[in-house]
Amino acid sequence: MLPRAAILISGRGSNMEAILNSRSQIPAEFSLVLSDKAGAEGLEVARKAGISVAVIERGKGEPKATHEFQMIEVLKDAGVTHIVLAGFMRILSKNFLDHFVATLNIHPSLLPSLPGLNTHARALKSNLSVHGCTVHLVDSGIDTGPILAQAGLSVGPNETPDSLAAKVLKLEHSLYPVTISNFLRGRSQNQALATDHPTG
Ligand code: GRF
Repeated sequence: MLPRAAILISGRGSNMEAILNSRSQIPAEFSLVLSDKAGAEGLEVARKAGISVAVIERGKGEPKATHEFQMIEVLKDAGVTHIVLAGFMRILSKNFLDHFVATLNIHPSLLPSLPGLNTHARALKSNLSVHGCTVHLVDSGIDTGPILAQAGLSVGPNETPDSLAAKVLKLEHSLYPVTISNFLRGRSQNQALATDHPTG
């Protein structure tokens, strides 16, 4: 039986869209898109792609555990086994993560460099010459789980946070779907590269 995946978003959902566009090459059934924001732009994109959507906002003063409990219930009802985070702006507890086989995330930096927010501005402030994105397994830390794959680019001389964000986002859209697929097939990035680009 195929793994059943849910994509969790909080906003634009461009990575979600890239994943859904590559669905035919990913050995999973994408059964649900869940947002913690009713106004997330990605919800409309998911609906148009024919995916069920759910919105579970965290009420004012609502404990994190109660909010997570509601999300777990909806995800379990949909038979979800794997979680894909795509711009989901919450730190998930170990209790939440333990309900699923694996949770993946994409982060806009070459981890372990620049965990957290505002990575593009921080990359420029630190005068980094190379920047990029990372797909990793999620643990209960902030951007600390085992790294599955990375893609990098050179930082140009007149770069701004916005120009860098646009270039990295393009990399994200190609790295994330292929990494999800490789992960579910049990292939490492190096094996995948060796197979996808035969030299002999
Ligand atoms: C991306 O930059 C991703 O790396 C980060 O949040 C952003 C989400 O963008 N985790 P989008 O919603 O997928 O367009």
